[in-house]
Parts: sequence; C-alpha cells; structure tokens
Amino acid sequence: MNTLILVFHPKDPVSKVNKRLAEAAEENSDFIVRDMYELYPDHKIDVKKEQELLEDADRIVLQFPMYWYSSPSLLKQWEDDVLAYGWAYGSTGDKLHGKELLIAISTGGASTNYAHDGSAHYTVTDLLRPLQATSDLIGTKYLEPFITGGALTITEDILEERAREYVAYLNKEHINTVGTYE
Ligand SMILES: Cc1cc2nc3c(=O)[nH]c(=O)nc-3n(C[C@H](O)[C@H](O)[C@H](O)COP(=O)(O)O)c2cc1C
Repeated sequence: MNTLILVFHPKDPVSKVNKRLAEAAEENSDFIVRDMYELYPDHKIDVKKEQELLEDADRIVLQFPMYWYSSPSLLKQWEDDVLAYGWAYGSTGDKLHGKELLIAISTGGASTNYAHDGSAHYTVTDLLRPLQATSDLIGTKYLEPFITGGALTITEDILEERAREYVAYLNKEHINTVGTYE
C-alpha cells in the first residue's frame, strides 16, 4: 500500500506533537511524508506535483493540529487548489476514486471536551464533517480519524506511546470507515 502523509503545521508556535508523529512515521516505514508549510511557505502550491503524488497513493493522510475547530489555512488552500474540478470531482473528475482518506488531528483541548456534553459541545468527528463531505464528493473512503487529544499538556511518555500507535495505525491494512451520520 502506498501511503502519502501530508503534514500541515505552520511551525509558529513550534510543533511538538505533530512533529513527533511525523518523525515516527518517517522513521518507521516507507511512507512518503511531506511537510507542506516547509514546501509552500508562500501558500503557492505546485498543483501538478501534488496531484501526481495523490494519483500514486492508495491511502492519503492529512495530518494537522486543530486550529479554531478546523485546520491551519494551508490545508484549505490545498483543497481549493489541488482538488480541482474535472480532476477530483465533476463528470470527469475521478482521479481519487476508491482511494482511502485518513485524517490525523491533534487537539489542544482534552479529549473529554470533545463530546456533546463536553465544553466544546461537538465531537472531533462532528467538527471534521466538512472533510468527510469532501471525501464523499471526491470518491475517497473516509477512514476513522486518528485523534490525539490534550496535545498542549501531553507528556513525553504519552507522546512516545502515541507515536508508536500512529505508526501501527498507519500500517493497518484495514481501517474502518465512518458512516454518514456516525
Ligand atoms: C491559532 C490556533 C488555534 C487553535 N485552535 C484550537 C482549537 O480550536 N481547539 C483545540 O483543541 N486546540 C486549538 N489549538 C491548539 C492546537 O490544536 C495544539 O496546540 C496542537 O494540536 C498541538 O500540536 P503541535 O504540538 O503539533 O503544535 C489552537 C492553536 C492555535 C495556535
């Protein structure tokens, strides 16, 4: 399986969690890991290159910290530019059909906040619905996201454990998909 991991972290403030998870993925396997803010600091994305990489991938991983209940802005730019009409969607836009899409997200807030009776009122799965709807539109299989909660206060030990779990998750041949209203 060809796994492409696109990491969207603006670096300021400096990353601890996403940096370690990305390093672990890079160290432990032959995944392709791309630091998108490093590659595109001016947000001018090489669309052709990114589309080629996506076409070669079986599993596409979008890894990022939660920013304002959403994502850092370069991920939105990537969607706007790379998921083009006639390529990713539309009557001839079938290039990503059948591939897997996995979201790997970290939240500063504790996991317990992200519940209907928690302080954030929504689950992370709820907040990721725009990406799930996008997945439906572009014909990818939307896998159960890999969520690391409490990222602001995570200890070194827990982070190392999480890094091992991330690599194990990425290496799984089968990951369940998320249903429409699940
Ligand atoms: C601009 C900005 C917005 C953020 N918004 C949220 C948020 O909506 N919910 C949340 O739980 N954490 C939020 N955070 C915290 C980040 O998600 C957290 O710092 C990150 O997941 C930690 O990963 P890192 O060590 O790789 O940076 C925000 C942080 C920044 C800088």
